[in-house]
Amino acid sequence: MKQVYMETFGCQMNVADTDRMELLLFQSGYLHTPHVEDADLVLINTCSIREKAEQKVFSLFGGLKPLKQANPDLILGVAGCLAQQEQTVLMNRIPFLDFIVGPDAVESIQQIIHRVELGEGPIVWTEFDSEKNYSIPEQPLIKDPGPSAFVNIIKGCDKFCSFCVVPFTRGREKSREAGEIYAEIRQLVDKGAKEIVLLGQNVNAYGKRGLEQPVAFHELLYGIADIKGVERLRFITSHPMDFTRELIAAYRDIDILMNHLHLPVQSGSNRILELMRRSHTTEWYMDLIAQLKSEVPDIALSTDIIVGFPGETRQDFEGTLKLMEQVRFNNSYMFTYSPRPNTPALEMADDISHEEKQERLQQTIQLQNRLTEENSQAFLGQEVEVLIESVTSRRGMSFRGRSPHYWSVVFKGGEDHLKPGDVTRVRVEEANGHVLKGNWAANRHCSARSDGGRGEL
Ligand code: SAH
Ligand code: SF4
Ligand code: F3S
Repeated sequence: MKQVYMETFGCQMNVADTDRMELLLFQSGYLHTPHVEDADLVLINTCSIREKAEQKVFSLFGGLKPLKQANPDLILGVAGCLAQQEQTVLMNRIPFLDFIVGPDAVESIQQIIHRVELGEGPIVWTEFDSEKNYSIPEQPLIKDPGPSAFVNIIKGCDKFCSFCVVPFTRGREKSREAGEIYAEIRQLVDKGAKEIVLLGQNVNAYGKRGLEQPVAFHELLYGIADIKGVERLRFITSHPMDFTRELIAAYRDIDILMNHLHLPVQSGSNRILELMRRSHTTEWYMDLIAQLKSEVPDIALSTDIIVGFPGETRQDFEGTLKLMEQVRFNNSYMFTYSPRPNTPALEMADDISHEEKQERLQQTIQLQNRLTEENSQAFLGQEVEVLIESVTSRRGMSFRGRSPHYWSVVFKGGEDHLKPGDVTRVRVEEANGHVLKGNWAANRHCSARSDGGRGEL
């Protein structure tokens, strides 16, 4: 068999696309290899969300050039958001490329490779598939999904935030039929998955567009909760404007829906939010959080923040710090603004200096570190429920997993009783940044849960 080497940058959507291509390529006779030197086909799945992501790809291809020179039959391809966005630039800067495939065309990977093998390259395949239903044909899984599995439920984004390339690289929003999602989840559970994480750039816009049989996002959650064997359910990433009352009720009513929400706010200044075209205000965001907390008091929250957006004054920035402090996020993904091709924010002057952006970023990081530290203290001496994801031998520990609130947990003990995929209880003894450390709360362990995660241990 021939061998394919794949590398993935960017978000979970790209990871899912790489998995999909790997499966299709396997059917075309390509076996996955972790060694680039052994490959007959090298496929790099790229991201273009910020400039840094883009630079990584160009430096990677610099390193691949000697391989291609040594073996002219080696097929080199670029997939993903950068491929969609920069077809011409990529072809010019990497003249030895054999193909480019956009995120909406991953299904065509077999035909593309076939044509390259016939000598028809280089091939550029970046059309958006706006006609066909968003459907992932059922295929047998080739990989063990592990205890926590991602499931794509919606593609594209229609929000057009002024700084963001995603609507241009991934195209219009389209939901996937619920029946197909349920079937994939059943298959994953049969293969040992315990936790399902629903994926989409704008996951709670699910059901708005592209479904033959309309199902609202909260209804989908109830449907998944009824599937036997799903012990935990999560979703990323939500947009504040698509957050419904029914979704708040779902958090309250669905036991297996973990009490954690990642809800990007981006800024704590209404003026900047408007320039960002986020279509929500800080008041709207805070009100949503208050409603959610009144129904689900222990909900854990995380967010995304951009600092140094064009025109962001010191006062605007302080609004962001204030909002972070008010919500007391467990975790934030923090970025300095990066001007991106095609986006409306390019029209605005990128007027905050590099130093000032870095200074603001450092301040948000420091604040978040303090909030994380303070929030973690609440768990000291407490027992938390952990879904074990892997074995670890680092620093004398035995297993690594996650708590319902999405804290990473490492713990000692239970080696003779536990395995990845088990849900168990851990007494937290130490909190170290984003990681809780503890000991197995041995006597209260129950490995094979028959109640779908609903009952008390
Ligand atoms: N769909 C999600 C996430 C989009 S991408 C959402 O709506 O929030 C992940 C994060 O990257 C964004 O939330 C944003 O914080 C950041 N990001 C996107 N474009 C960026 C840019 N041009 N510069 C800096 N950060 C950016
Ligand atoms: Fe980008 Fe905004 Fe869509 Fe998120 S909601 S993917 S930030 S355009
Ligand atoms: Fe990057 Fe595209 Fe995801 S730009 S973050 S890979 S949607």
